[in-house]
Amino acid sequence: MSRLVVVGSQWGDEGKGKVTDFLGQKADVVVRSQGGNNAGHTILIGNEKFALQTIPSGIFNPHIKNVLANGMVINPKAALTELKNLEARGITNYHLYISNRAHVIMPYHMDLDGAYEQFKGSNKIGTTKKGIGPCYADKANRIGIRMGDLVNPDCLKEALENTLPIKNMELKMLGLKTYTVEEIFAEYVNYGKELKKYVCDTSLLLQEEIDANSNILFEGAQGSMLCLDHGTYPYVTSSSPTAASVPVNSGIAPKYIDHCVGICKAYTTRVGEGPFPTELNNEMGNYIRERGHEYGTVTKRPRRVGYLDLVVVNYAKRISGIDSLALMLFDVLTGVKELKICVGYKLDGKEINTIPATLKEYSMCEPIYITMPVWNEDITKCRDYESLPAECKNYIETIEKYTNIPVDMISVGAERNETIIRRDVFKK
Ligand code: IMP
Repeated sequence: MSRLVVVGSQWGDEGKGKVTDFLGQKADVVVRSQGGNNAGHTILIGNEKFALQTIPSGIFNPHIKNVLANGMVINPKAALTELKNLEARGITNYHLYISNRAHVIMPYHMDLDGAYEQFKGSNKIGTTKKGIGPCYADKANRIGIRMGDLVNPDCLKEALENTLPIKNMELKMLGLKTYTVEEIFAEYVNYGKELKKYVCDTSLLLQEEIDANSNILFEGAQGSMLCLDHGTYPYVTSSSPTAASVPVNSGIAPKYIDHCVGICKAYTTRVGEGPFPTELNNEMGNYIRERGHEYGTVTKRPRRVGYLDLVVVNYAKRISGIDSLALMLFDVLTGVKELKICVGYKLDGKEINTIPATLKEYSMCEPIYITMPVWNEDITKCRDYESLPAECKNYIETIEKYTNIPVDMISVGAERNETIIRRDVFKK
């Protein structure tokens, strides 16, 4: 039995979907505990490609209980569309549980997300415009509407009556369209009716699963550097994608977390604005972007690409207590002409090994690189560590040396089976 947390150790898009899908084969429960449909997990099953945004990746396995926990923000319309799309593709036998304490993304949250970005001008965050930040802001302001309200018409009406006058003032001030209680109620009461069968107290459900010694996989969304508290603020998301946030965001006690797997791309990417010391604005960056299909699942934006930055990975290790690493998209680096790993930064002539708090300082950080031997062999057929070229082993062992974390999984292709397992992180 174990309770395992999967966290992104960079700026998101590390390939968490593949790892959670892979580990999910041994899980009884898969939980998403933060974020919303700003996340995008791509999963390849056979020749079929599935892009998930709100729904946990355990949805494909009829034995798994999938939980959307209290720390999430849920767009009910988007969640229902996602479920209907899955059903249209034959995924009909699933178990889904949505926390009655999760917050609901309302249409005005999306309007405000777009407007704030516009008003920030050149300082815009580059959000996914899904209303994530404004929804979490309402939660903190105690004017949010929760799933428990959505599925109860009387509660929904009352919540809208309390919230809308305040939101309308804000919308009016920003020159945006205002809403009436009736128009939102007429649409959202139906989403509530459709989702009601999934909504429950998921904290209770998780405790029962813990008591029954179930294997529980907490599937992180986004990455540690996008953490509201520890990331490159303000160029972050509005939740905490760290292992530390899992207990509060899912209603379990911290002592129940056994193991944390950090998902780490073999290089680095980021979408949206903000500092990125190892960014490659050159031929090498383009090569990696094309080979890695580095375009946003949610927004389709080309991702910014750079060399692997171990200062970032070590920072994520400290914040989340990463016990093992899954190295993703390793095959993408095959054939790259010049390969480097960043092992420290230079700031004002001094060497540092952490992320400075201010954007000003972080923008001034210069990467300290070690140059790595390259390889040209196709590694997608490798299924054990020994069959990898010496240069690949060298790359992996360099990561282990500088992070002191074992690389337990190596992904050499998009398919489930294109994976090298060095240690089984899910004990059963
Ligand atoms: P928001 O989460 O839509 O508010 O966006 C805030 C920042 O987080 C932006 O830079 C987004 O591009 C980034 N972001 C949000 N979700 C993801 C994700 O799943 N992968 C990568 N970046 C993300």
